[in-house]
Amino acid sequence: MTDRYAVIGNPVAHSKSPLIHAAFARQTAQDISYERLLAPLHDFVGTLRQFRIDGGRGANVTVPFKEEAWRLADTRTPRAQLAQAANTLVFTDAGIHADNTDGAGLVTDILQNIGYALSGRRILLMGAGGAARGVIAPLLAEHPALLVIVNRTVIRANALQHQFSPYGIVEACDYAALRGMQFDCIINATSASLSGELAPLPDGIFAPGSLAYDMMYGNAPTPFLRYAASHGAGSCADGLGMLVEQAAAAFELWRGVRPDTLPVIKQLRSL
Ligand code: ATR
Repeated sequence: MTDRYAVIGNPVAHSKSPLIHAAFARQTAQDISYERLLAPLHDFVGTLRQFRIDGGRGANVTVPFKEEAWRLADTRTPRAQLAQAANTLVFTDAGIHADNTDGAGLVTDILQNIGYALSGRRILLMGAGGAARGVIAPLLAEHPALLVIVNRTVIRANALQHQFSPYGIVEACDYAALRGMQFDCIINATSASLSGELAPLPDGIFAPGSLAYDMMYGNAPTPFLRYAASHGAGSCADGLGMLVEQAAAAFELWRGVRPDTLPVIKQLRSL
């Protein structure tokens, strides 16, 4: 019998996850189906419960339900616990198990696909919302020289610094305090790109050879990546590779087999 999986979100029509998981399933000869499920904003739980009753084996969770998914799970991986959000659920006889593969997806994309080592580097993480929180521990696990969290509302960055300082060298500041600093890797985890905006980075922030990474992706470069390309970044990357890598980690959790991500990233780029 075909095992059912789904991505649950609102909105969800734009999600590329069904395409990605269909490609993984073909590649690894796994008999699965993977659909999009639009949950009402006030009834994520009901949608999830119905999908389980209908035979679902697991689900990906996207905006705006990742925190809720994490809260309602019966068990959680340590990385989901740190992220306080879940993007991957596994349904078992014992209940709902939550994981968060977003941070691992980002780090795998940077290290393996882009080929940029993070160990000993100065990393700037822009944003202090759920997207930022989910990637901090996996970034710190790479032993950067320093991780600075910058946010418009500095109090949110301070809270993350406080939470994650046991795991590495973390600082927090607002954008004005970045003047005169340089970073080897600047990661945009703000939602500014969504509205075509750009956070106020000071001139000279990109060190020679630095990597600019936007966790968002789209058909055209984001405002952040356009800024980076014209202000000294050595290379630029959008979040498509992260999307495929987080999916691969979820697929491996569900099916016990690791798919090959590069052909799938290539396929999505050509669409
Ligand atoms: P998510 O879960 O996607 O991270 P969020 O919790 O709403 O969403 O967080 C959005 C992040 O983008 C925040 O860090 C926000 O900064 P504030 O906390 O100061 O609001 C940041 N952000 C959104 N628009 C921005 C902009 N135009 N410039 C700078 N930061 C922006």
